[in-house]
This record gives sequence, C-alpha cells and structure tokens, in this order.
Amino acid sequence: MKLFLDTAVFDEIKQGVDWGVVDGVTTNPTLIARAGQDHETQVKRICGIIGNVSAEVVSEKKNDILVEGRRLASWHKNVIVKVPMTADGLAAGKILAGEGTRINVTLCFSINQALLAAAIDAHIVSPFVGRVDDIDEDGLQLVRDIVAAYRQKGIKTKVLAASLRGPFQVSQSALAGADIGTMPFSVLTAMFKHPLTDAGLKRFKEDYLKTQEPKPADASAGVGSSASVVGASETRGSDEDSLDQLWADHATLASQLGLLERVADVIGGEDLPPETLRAELDRAYDLVAGKVLPHIRTADDLQRISAGHDYARAPVHPDHDQAEQLSSTLEGFRARVARGDIEGTPREIRRILYQLHALTRPHFADQGQSR
Ligand code: E4P
Repeated sequence: MKLFLDTAVFDEIKQGVDWGVVDGVTTNPTLIARAGQDHETQVKRICGIIGNVSAEVVSEKKNDILVEGRRLASWHKNVIVKVPMTADGLAAGKILAGEGTRINVTLCFSINQALLAAAIDAHIVSPFVGRVDDIDEDGLQLVRDIVAAYRQKGIKTKVLAASLRGPFQVSQSALAGADIGTMPFSVLTAMFKHPLTDAGLKRFKEDYLKTQEPKPADASAGVGSSASVVGASETRGSDEDSLDQLWADHATLASQLGLLERVADVIGGEDLPPETLRAELDRAYDLVAGKVLPHIRTADDLQRISAGHDYARAPVHPDHDQAEQLSSTLEGFRARVARGDIEGTPREIRRILYQLHALTRPHFADQGQSR
C-alpha cells in the first residue's frame, strides 16, 4: 500500500518526502484552510516536491465543477482533481477523465458509490474509514468490501483509504487490500514507532559502549569516561527490563483508569460548552493514547518475544484489539469535536469511554493480581 499524507502543511510534506516514504498528498478545503495559505499557491508549491497531489473542487453543479476541475488540473501535471461523490461530481469527473485528468472521487461511503466511481474511470476512489467509524459502523470493512468488489472484475480504479486517524487503521487498510492510505503527519510519525526497535537500539548502544570500556590493564584510565554511563542494568536483558517497566506501569495505570469514567460522567451533563467537551475529551484521550495503548502494545510485544517472535502464534489478547478499535473511534470523535461537529457526539463519546473503562479495568486488575 502506498502512503500519502493527508495535509496541506508544506513542512510536514517536505519531511515525509525527505524520509522517502511518501508517494502523494491529499488535500481538501478544510486542510487548505488549516494550512492558512491561498489554494493555488499551496497546491503548486506541494506539486513542486511530490507527484499525486489531490486538490478538491468546491463547486456543486456539473458545469461549474468542470470549469473548476480544468483550472485545478492546469496548475500542475501532478494534480489529481478531487470531485464529490454526487451525480454532478461524477458527470463532470467523467468528462475530465476523458480529457486525461486523473480523478479522485471523494466522500465515498458505500460499495455502490465505489462502483459508480469506477464507472467513470476514476483514477482513485476514497472511502472515508474514520468517518464511517464515527457513526458506529465499520470503515475498514467498507475498504475490504470495495477491494473485493473491484477485484471480482479487475477494476483499475485505486482504492484510497481516507480519513485514517491512527496507525492501527493504516495497517488494517493495507491488510484489507487498499492501494493507498492517506493519513495525517502524526499518524505517519507513529508508524515508525515500535518498542522492540527502541529496546534494540538501546541494547546495541550499550553493547557498543561496552567495547569502548577500558581493558583491565588500564582500568584506572576509565574513571569518569563515557563507559561509566552504562549503569547496573547492563547485566540484565532488555526484555527483563521491559517486563519490570510493564508491571510498574501496570500498577500506576490501574489507579488512573477511573478518569475515563469520571470524564464520561461529566460529558453526560446537560449543555456542556464545546470548549469543556474538548478539554475533557483531551484528558481522556491523552490517558488512552498516551498510556493505555502503549502499555498494551508492549504487553503484546512481550508475548511475542515469549512466542519466539512468531506473530502468528503469539497469543494477543482479544481485549487489546477491542481497546485499539475503541480508541480509534474516540480519536474520530475528537476530530469531529475539533471541527465543531458536536451534534450527538457527547452521548457517543460517553458510551465509548464507559466501554473503554469496563474493558480495561478488570483486565488491568487481573493482570496485576496474577503477577
Ligand atoms: C482525504 O482525501 C480526506 O479528505 C480526508 O482523509 C478526510 O479526513 P477526516 O475525516 O479526518 O476529515
């Protein structure tokens, strides 16, 4: 699966390009507004450093979309014109595609819409994973279904998993067969992270420093040298250290989880001002994304170590998958609240927080006792 950045912030795109991992960019009017730049200037600037840049029309009528789409396409050969999943959007998209412009049909939420996009020879169709999850349906299943429907008939339109809010949705989109996944810069950054990489780097560094230690014959020469930085833990395996850390975090986390329930209670109150909702949601999300998820991922990794790094055999707890999914849904609601779209969200957020609390509390308590 190719990786695209879902942003119009030039510095983020430049960083992704410099890392050599990004193949394209998706923008939309919201992202352009967030970048605080004029649309044309920003799109041209982005096209200067990367191919496959989706730029979205805002017109609604077929002829207006046609005029606007031609204008966007004239800005740069790297522009892919994004048209909405409407009858007018597709009618204009069909003509533009016939003229050789690459079309991205955006705001796709069903298999049938994806079939319509393929019917106009769209280059890309964009199912919105996160926004489907926002309404308590399964966005990743939608990607799986569209990929399956396209494969049945060898349809060439590329499936771009859009509205991805976390690394879990990225990996699952790849497994679902998406051709492209587009994500915010923060999600791309999170893809690099793995506790075993960190542990491995630490171990290599320690072993390297050991080779720099003075030999017994000139031991006195080493006092105060960099070799003394390596502490007592060097005699222990890094897996043992990780396990100790895991159990220490475990106890701390078990006592912090009540926050989820408290925030859920507050959010359930009547007429909560949006800024209070945002602040409460941030508190709960910071605990989930910053502590609970890294913790359970470390627990999974240690399971894998004890299974000899055999990912297929490793007994990952089903609660962990559920916690990942709930937190990804929570992240989606966070994005909605940030957009000011709070209709019905407090009730849904409260439900997710209660579920997360109910799921994690006994799990952490059990594991704490089993030590
Ligand atoms: C990309 O093409 C979409 O515009 C974008 O992924 C939407 O993401 P959002 O649902 O987080 O706004």
